[in-house]
Amino acid sequence: MADATLYERLGGEGKIRALATSIFDNHAKNETINARYGASDRDDVIRLVTEFICAGTGGPQSYSGKDMLAAHKGMNISEQEYVAVLDDILDAMNVNSIGKREQEEFLMIAYSLRGEILHV
Ligand code: HEM
Repeated sequence: MADATLYERLGGEGKIRALATSIFDNHAKNETINARYGASDRDDVIRLVTEFICAGTGGPQSYSGKDMLAAHKGMNISEQEYVAVLDDILDAMNVNSIGKREQEEFLMIAYSLRGEILHV
């Protein structure tokens, strides 16, 4: 029997929304990156990131936002900012009691997107 999807093991849409909310709120407190989100609509970003995670981990939702290259194009995001986002994701996963295996898988997905996000 096949393994449950990462979406299922993360606990489905409700748990993923809670995770996306913690990630956004960590960004807002993180001095390395919070200026980047100064003009952001919190609910909008949380909704899009929730959809992105759901769709990208095997959930039935579709993602209505921009692809990662288009979303970050022109920002010239640095390595330091990228690591700050990964730190916020890791902290949010711990706060939301996500299992170790799921943390590793999710962090690997996040890290693998760096070519579309860093210095574009
Ligand atoms: C794993 C890494 C990342 C993922 C999965 C990710 C995901 C996303 C998503 C789904 C959006 C919404 C796209 C849309 O508006 O249609 C977004 C927007 C954005 N991201 Fe990222 N991102 C990542 C890394 C970063 C980094 C390192 C920064 C730098 C601080 C950053 C800054 C932003 C900003 C400023 C926006 C625009 C928010 C707004 O529209 O108000 N992201 N990101």
